[in-house]
Amino acid sequence: MDQPVAMAYETITVEPIAGALGAVIRGPDLSQPLEQQCFAEIHDAFLKHLVIFLEDQDLTPDQLLAFAKRFGPIVNYPFVKDMDGHPGITEIIKTENDTLNFGGLWHSDTTYLPKPPLGSMLYARELPPRGGDTLFANMYLAYETLSEGMKAMLAPLRAVSSASLRDKSEGGARSRIAAQTGRGQNVDQRDMAADHPVVRTHPETGRMALYINCAHSSHFVGMTQEESRPILQFLFEHMSRPEFTCRYRWKVDAVALWDNRCSHHYALNDYQGYRRLMHRVTIEGDTPV
Ligand code: SIN
Repeated sequence: MDQPVAMAYETITVEPIAGALGAVIRGPDLSQPLEQQCFAEIHDAFLKHLVIFLEDQDLTPDQLLAFAKRFGPIVNYPFVKDMDGHPGITEIIKTENDTLNFGGLWHSDTTYLPKPPLGSMLYARELPPRGGDTLFANMYLAYETLSEGMKAMLAPLRAVSSASLRDKSEGGARSRIAAQTGRGQNVDQRDMAADHPVVRTHPETGRMALYINCAHSSHFVGMTQEESRPILQFLFEHMSRPEFTCRYRWKVDAVALWDNRCSHHYALNDYQGYRRLMHRVTIEGDTPV
């Protein structure tokens, strides 16, 4: 399997949090402009570990955006308005009275767009006393552990991602969260669909990753939903095998950045009666191939 070339780090230390993916990076102060060498090392660790965490960061919204912009241009999340005065940052909030959470199922972000995001960044502002962790899963491993027969069958396939499917699978969570916070954007969910290769080649690492997800992928191009369902169901279960995952226990002031091109994430909703507030920034991606 192709692995990114090993790089010796001089400005950061990297502590993996699981066998499959995820690493805490220590050293950088993101409130300061990053030297090119430091950014190159963070970027290398991001490609290698798929999701990185930088803790104890005391950042203004502009400093958070400046760090995100080192990875690429910022794009808006289509269904929720940006924070007042800070275009590019979305507030992901669950209050003491809310029961549904945002992102509470395995997914890669907004794959119903023709160019889904490269990555997404989350900055923890307020956390419950316990719970509210986020799970991540490695889609390179999910692909590499399939049989050669399954890989050959999936190779030519494309799958349709639909924005309305996720809202249904979350029990209308996204629409209700947008309504609860009064920050919904009037986007017609039926209009947002795109098809992408079921197996994509990561544009930076050259590695192959499974690129369907249970939140958005509705069927294979050229097949009905009924015909597609058994294979999709098998793949959704395979992709979330515990050994492909890591779990991050948030700390206030932690920044996470995940690679949407080769990982999935799942926000746990196990903190009823408590508040959780995250600032989220989305980074532009390319057309999956
Ligand atoms: C998301 O899916 O973007 C939210 C993840 C989280 O809140 O942990």
